[in-house]
Amino acid sequence: MAGEVTISGAKNAAVAIIPAAILVKGKCVIENVPRIKDVDVLIDMLRSLGATAEFQGETTLVVDATGINKCCAPYEMVRKMRASYYLIGALLGRFLKADVAMPGGCNFGSRPIDQHIKGFEALGAYVSRDAGVIIAEADHLTGTNIYLDVVSVGATINIMLAAVLADGITTIENAAKEPHVVDIANFLNAMGAQVKGAGTDLIRITGVPALRGGTYSIIPDQIEAGTFMVAAAATQGNVLVKNVIPKHMESVSAKLAEIGATVEEYDDSIRVIGSPVIHKANIKTLPYPGFPTDMQPQMVVLLSIAEGTSMVVEGVWDSRFQYVDELERLGANIRVDGKIAVIEGVDHLEGAPVRATDLRGGAGMVLAGLIAQGETTITDLQYIDRGYENMEGKFASLGADIKRIICDD
Ligand code: EPZ
Repeated sequence: MAGEVTISGAKNAAVAIIPAAILVKGKCVIENVPRIKDVDVLIDMLRSLGATAEFQGETTLVVDATGINKCCAPYEMVRKMRASYYLIGALLGRFLKADVAMPGGCNFGSRPIDQHIKGFEALGAYVSRDAGVIIAEADHLTGTNIYLDVVSVGATINIMLAAVLADGITTIENAAKEPHVVDIANFLNAMGAQVKGAGTDLIRITGVPALRGGTYSIIPDQIEAGTFMVAAAATQGNVLVKNVIPKHMESVSAKLAEIGATVEEYDDSIRVIGSPVIHKANIKTLPYPGFPTDMQPQMVVLLSIAEGTSMVVEGVWDSRFQYVDELERLGANIRVDGKIAVIEGVDHLEGAPVRATDLRGGAGMVLAGLIAQGETTITDLQYIDRGYENMEGKFASLGADIKRIICDD
């Protein structure tokens, strides 16, 4: 695989920034929005609440939530995606009321939202559950200190959303430090909020009376960039991955160097040159700046053809190795015990029919198909489409033999 690929805006920032626009009375011009299914679903959600949301050009989304007249997001609406939980923080922050069904999303075992609820309650909300619906209400929200028992991206962002318009100062301790947490804080600040410390484990939010419209550009997608970097390493390719923030890629770049690839960093791009011999490596996924769990399946695919035995420990989710059964159909030799995978490198993979079990597992299957000898067909593309913009087009432009087939049934 050779050539250049341009990375889209970050999915996990976009899926929080679009709901965050609910807090703003005025026009939010959001640039560098990835054209993915999760974004389409969120736009529909905002419209059904009474906001306007329209693309101007390919990647600029204009949202005006001034006219929102509902605080209720039923199951039919939210079941398609996890990030719909951001509607709770945003609606509560603006209207002091949110009525949102428990979210759907990829299944990695239990996905509790107790830390989100703990934060809303600390701010003064009364939160109850009724038939799968979270109801949060408050007379007013007041700044307070919140210590997260687990480092949670979703809880950190959701509490920021609920706190930006609260009275006084809120601090979030043991906050998540992911690049998209910083991006949401920067978006809110661009609209008039006062959020400081995002990117550290202590975030301090001084409540303001209102947010106003403005323009903001979403950061590049760390995980899409990582997926193409791993693809270059796995195919002995030479790929310039453009529109990235190299700092966000450090853990992935370091691991690729360890397995033998050459990684060259530039201001806003990274070149990866794969080596014919892939060395084994051990990985433990961790919150940022550790190795991202959302890159775990892609790295396991790469290690499946490494020389020797590698071990990958999933340190974030209880159950994120479901895709391994599919990878074994292609000839990989992997033993999974709970949160640990032991990967015996094989000489090569052989093409076979597989399915995407979830978003990143699906990305892993595409990488596996690219390196396997013969033809691989991947079904259940709806998972991949949730989070990757034009994945097959981007790989095809790098010389991969990949195409989407539309089936009638
Ligand atoms: C976000 O999920 C991402 N999703 C996930 O990416 C990503 O895997 C995850 O962060 C970790 O980086 C979105 O941003 C939409 P968490 P999130 O709250 O926020 C536990 C992808 O592929 N926890 O940081 O839901 C939880 O069980 C997706 O793009 C609690 O115990 O994850 C997990 O073990 C998949 N209580 C850990 O914390 C809570 O209240 C981290 O979860 C919340 C979380």
